[in-house]
Amino acid sequence: MDAKERAGEWAASQVRDGMAVGLGTGSTAAFFIRGVARRVREEGLKLRLLASSSYSTILLATELGLPLATLEQVDALDLYADGADEFDPQKRLIKGRGAAMVREKHLVHLSSRFLVLVDPSKRVERLGTHFPVPVECLPFSTGLVRAELVKLGAREAIVRPAGTSKDGPVVSDQGNFVIDARFDAAGDVAGLDDAINAIPGVVGHGLFTRYADRVTVAVGHADRVEIIG
Ligand code: 5RP
Repeated sequence: MDAKERAGEWAASQVRDGMAVGLGTGSTAAFFIRGVARRVREEGLKLRLLASSSYSTILLATELGLPLATLEQVDALDLYADGADEFDPQKRLIKGRGAAMVREKHLVHLSSRFLVLVDPSKRVERLGTHFPVPVECLPFSTGLVRAELVKLGAREAIVRPAGTSKDGPVVSDQGNFVIDARFDAAGDVAGLDDAINAIPGVVGHGLFTRYADRVTVAVGHADRVEIIG
């Protein structure tokens, strides 16, 4: 079992019959989702499952035969499990490599317990060490948002390209663009979180600074899972 799989399996073991559970997005969350599907199959767990963190997760959960609720039907989650790109000693996060951070934050907000599933490479002293902060914006606001991010100290703010799968930019599940903003390892991350939210045209972003009280980080290693509660 590799580190991500171990973290995902541990999170699946935390699910209890009758819970409302949110399913995150990414390669580590996929191990969690597969683990939940196995437990539903083998143990007959009855769960309310919300896969709305992305179309990617809705497709995976559907393929696995999991019955899904919609966001309109669920206003609170007992548990939400998802990956992260970076976490710091205060259990603050950067998310959004998969461009799903807006929906992911919505589900975190609904949850009373948030399991962050990572491998050791995601641990940093300061957020922004390896990853940019992804900022989702309305397409017509792209220029304004890039300029404002630079004013906030970003040394680079680039529209994320789709790569070989499509010409032009990544288009989010909401039909928006994603700007990757590189800050020299962010200092006042809570202030930056608020300041980015205040830019007109910003739909959301990948700094998660306000949820440490509900976060448990599960760091998968080759032979164990380290829990940072
Ligand atoms: C998607 C995310 C992912 O959870 C994050 O990028 C981690 O992904 P992975 O588990 O594949 O390393 O935020 O938007």
